[in-house]
Amino acid sequence: MKNITVIGVGYVGMITGACFADLGNRVCGLDINEERIANLNQGIMPIYEQGLKELVDRNLRAGRLSFTTSYEEAINDHEAEFVFICVGTPEGVDGEADLQYVRAAAESVAAVMDHPLIVINKSTVPVGTGDWVAEIVRKAQPGTIPFSVVSCPEFLREGTAISDFMNQDRTVLGSRDAEAAERVAQLHLPLRAPIMITNLRTAEMIKYASNAFLATKISFINEIANICEDLDADVREVTAGMALDKRIGPSFLGAGIGYGGSCFPKDVKALAYMANVKGRHPRLLQAVMDINEIQRKTVVLKTQEILGDDLSGRTIGLLGLAFKPSTDDMRDAPSIDICRMLQEAGASVKGYDPVAMEWAGRVIPNIELASDAYELVSGCDAVVICTEWNEFRQLDLDRVKELMRQPVIVDGRNIYEPSDMKKAGFTYRGIGRG
Ligand code: NAD
Ligand code: UDX
Repeated sequence: MKNITVIGVGYVGMITGACFADLGNRVCGLDINEERIANLNQGIMPIYEQGLKELVDRNLRAGRLSFTTSYEEAINDHEAEFVFICVGTPEGVDGEADLQYVRAAAESVAAVMDHPLIVINKSTVPVGTGDWVAEIVRKAQPGTIPFSVVSCPEFLREGTAISDFMNQDRTVLGSRDAEAAERVAQLHLPLRAPIMITNLRTAEMIKYASNAFLATKISFINEIANICEDLDADVREVTAGMALDKRIGPSFLGAGIGYGGSCFPKDVKALAYMANVKGRHPRLLQAVMDINEIQRKTVVLKTQEILGDDLSGRTIGLLGLAFKPSTDDMRDAPSIDICRMLQEAGASVKGYDPVAMEWAGRVIPNIELASDAYELVSGCDAVVICTEWNEFRQLDLDRVKELMRQPVIVDGRNIYEPSDMKKAGFTYRGIGRG
């Protein structure tokens, strides 16, 4: 049993805190967002993530988990040994990661700490940030209490975050202090994942390289999908054929409208920025980003090919708004750009998502929100599938056809088979389906 403090109770902080509590540790979650903490103390989760509420409730009841807005309470009263920094590192100017929240968190820890600590950077931070955080803590401390900084990047995916954390493929740790890294490694032993201890900068780089590689796979398959369309081949089968090669495998080769979310877009940009600062021009990363940007437009172009360039007087429905299924996260969701492009072409846009409606309503201007998939398709000249939620996979297609003004479906996530849709009487376009 260890005393752990988690700073920032968003996606990463909530999962890290709740999972470590469930492993038997005493965890205090701290956030500057008072509403979040007040809600958490009443059992209301700050994020939508399957299984999280049960995990939090169980550990609150067991007295292993608590939440506060006070650094004094979270660090000193809690007698924290490990402090995980899990605050946001959003895209800043020119693609550089914005470290203002990391700086504020490090300064706040330093200002109150009354005993030695291990400060762990779990936020995705540019290479070199570990040393920068150490410098901030050193300068902001009133005294000279010893502390160490360890990098421990997080690889969880939203929607499967708890199982990703509990069954992680590897734990990566980096530090200048081998003993501190070893203590953080001990903390992770119950997860039974291979633990790799590197130097600080290498650990930070492993996170960026991993996200950039996964984003590269997605842009690669989207480029192949576009070529498939030119050559009348089917990318779904091409991927299936490639995936049987053990060297390739099936993951992250789903062609569609490209990657979105709070990580891939900003992390690829931040890595390219780091390379640029060193005078290197990362051409592959640039191509990955360019392809991803263009890919969002393909569903708009396909809609226009069917309905004409001028979409004035047309109503288009977006089925799914979150950046991926099983989350309500709208950060850099492709649906936002797709909605804007359709509106610029003159269309009225409606949207429906099983869980992201509230967030979508805040970030997508002038979208009309429908209460379910059937209300969404009613009166639409075309429907664009933006998120592959399971509930869209087996819709009553006869009813959908009846409700639509025209039976046009542009499937940005390839959830339907072109031949089935043709048989059902739809004008259907997938991505890379020949
Ligand atoms: P988030 O926006 O969901 O949560 C961040 C939280 O930090 C917020 O609740 C915010 O109020 C709080 N915060 C900000 N400044 C603070 C301060 N000074 N003190 C205390 N709390 C503060 O962010 P997230 O999605 O959990 O991402 C956190 C980090 O983890 C980022 O660096 C991200 O790149 C990385 N990451 C995210 C994911 C993911 O799936 N979301 C996965 C892996 C890594
Ligand atoms: C990602 C990383 O996978 C995770 O390791 C990291 O910690 C955070 O960033 P996440 O953004 O939650 O996780 O979701 P992920 O499942 O990776 O999907 C990211 C985006 O790529 C989504 O928009 C998704 O729709 C898209 N994607 C994914 C594809 O377009 N095709 C695929 O084959 C896989």
